[in-house]
Parts: sequence; C-alpha cells; structure tokens
Amino acid sequence: MTATKALAAIASPIADDVRQGLSAEPKRLPAKLFYDAEGSRLFDEITRTPEYYPTRTERGILQTNAAEIVRQAGDNLDLVELGAGNASKTSILVEALSQRQLRVEFHPIDVSATALQEAVASMHGRFRNLSIRPIVADYSDDLPELQSLQGQKLVMFIGSTIGNFEPDEAVQFLQRLRRSLNPGDALLLGMDLIKDADVLHAAYNDAAGVTAKFNKNMLVRINRELGGHFDPEAFQHIAFWNPAMSRIEMHLESRFEQKVWVRDLDRVFHFAGGERIHTENSYKFSTETTSRLVHASGFRMERCWTDPEQWFRVVLARG
Ligand code: AVI
Repeated sequence: MTATKALAAIASPIADDVRQGLSAEPKRLPAKLFYDAEGSRLFDEITRTPEYYPTRTERGILQTNAAEIVRQAGDNLDLVELGAGNASKTSILVEALSQRQLRVEFHPIDVSATALQEAVASMHGRFRNLSIRPIVADYSDDLPELQSLQGQKLVMFIGSTIGNFEPDEAVQFLQRLRRSLNPGDALLLGMDLIKDADVLHAAYNDAAGVTAKFNKNMLVRINRELGGHFDPEAFQHIAFWNPAMSRIEMHLESRFEQKVWVRDLDRVFHFAGGERIHTENSYKFSTETTSRLVHASGFRMERCWTDPEQWFRVVLARG
C-alpha cells in the first residue's frame, strides 16, 4: 500500500466496517453506513412516501396525545432527544411543554453536527421560551453523562430506531441509558408493531424506488469514501418480512458474478450471482415484546399510546 492509500484507509471511519463486513460470510454492512448526507436526505424522502407508515403514524400518536404524554412524564421537564432527525415530531412535544412551562431546555444528541444544526434551525424562533443546547455524541456507542444535566428529564428515543438494534443490543443499550439517568427521569420510546405482511412489505419496497436508492447509496458511499468501484445498478434492492425473526430484512443482491475493487482497502471482493449483502434489520414488536424489552432493560412501563389501527406504539417508561 502506498503512503497515500494507507492514510486514506486510516482516515475513513467506515474502512474497518466495510473490510470486515464484505469479508464476512454471509456478507453484511452495518445500517449506520446509510446515513451520510445523501442517505439522511433519502431517509427523509422515504418518510414522505405513501407506503412508509411509521413516521406519519407516530406523528399522529404524538399529536393526539402530546398534552397527556407530558403530564404523565412529570413537571418542569427538560427534553433530551437521541438522534436529531425527528424535528417535525419533536416539535409537537416541545410545543406541549412550552405551553405549560416558563422555560424549556432541549438537548438533541447526534453524532452529526450538521443534523444538529438543522434541528436547531428548524426550531429557531418558533418557541419564545425554548433554549436548545445540542450535544455532539455517538449515543449508540458512547452515551453522554445525562446525569450531569440539571432538572428532571424526558428522554425521547422515537422513530422506532430501537428496531434497528439486534434484540440483545437493544436491551444493553437501554440498560446503559437507564444507568445514565437520574431516578424519576422518563423515557419516551417509539416502537413499530407487527402488522399485515403486505403493509410491511410495501413500506420497504415503495413504488417510487426511494428505499431502493437509500439501500444502494451504501455502495455509492463506499465508492466515494474508499475509492470503491461498485456499480450500484449491478445490485438489486431486496426487502422482505421475516416472520420467524419478526423483522424486515434489507439486502443488496448481486445481479451476476462480479469482482469489485475497493482501492483504499487494497482489496477485491468477489460476488457470486445472487449473493447478498445484508444491510439492515428492522424489528417489529408485539404488545408483549415491547413490554418485555422495557422490563428487561430495567425500566418500568408507565403508559402506552397507540393509533386506531395499532400499527405503532409510544411507551412512557421510568428508570
Ligand atoms: C430509521 N429506521 C427506523 C428505519 C426503519 O424503518 O427501520 C430505516 C429504514 N430502512 C428502510 N426504510 C427505512
């Protein structure tokens, strides 16, 4: 490897994940690689497709129940949000808090400074008694010390992001979150529920092909950041409901046998025709498994809200 290549390989934060994932059997790439600037933009576009029900369903639950949610959560709350991509939903709770409190402090936490800037910009000037104090941190790896924040907190982890964790990782993550809170702090968790397989299938196979583009964007990202030579069109977007595992699986399937050179990894990866790269799991929960996850993490389930079709569940839990 030349010095420039070695430097590029060290500099790219995705190099290790890509090397390990594409060397594994079966091949896989972690879902966090979706979210470069273009991937975040595409995810936002997914949430506006008619087939992708989770965002609008959860938003509906929050709109209908915001006053009750904040009443149940406690008095004089500071709001913390894990992930900063939910501004349209978060502002529903900010509004409910700003109507009943003199001051509202909001701490969005995200690894992306750009995502945080956008979250701040989207709320700027809308609520006269709101102060926003963003925290740049990769909350999934290295949760910041939330105990040091003064006041009682309502921590939002919405959007069914918990469904993108493997079940044991979800428990470990929520256990860590609970330990980072003070007694009495509340957690608001959004979880997608099991439903008709056709509805689930359509949500991850939208007719406009936005989810397919989102999935293939991982290859575009490898090309850009690691000097990869993937032809995204040589791979097919695959998404299906796996009822035995209670999850949607997303894969990229090689349309034919091919070899792909990734310059900065100094590696050629071989794909058989039909061979897949597993890119994402999106777990769906039953009423029972939502409760089980909350309890296994050491939280106490206090209240839940759902939509008329029972497609999504918002849980208020206490540490
Ligand atoms: C972010 N996450 C909850 C989405 C989901 O539904 O699992 C990501 C996504 N993948 C494909 N479409 C949306």
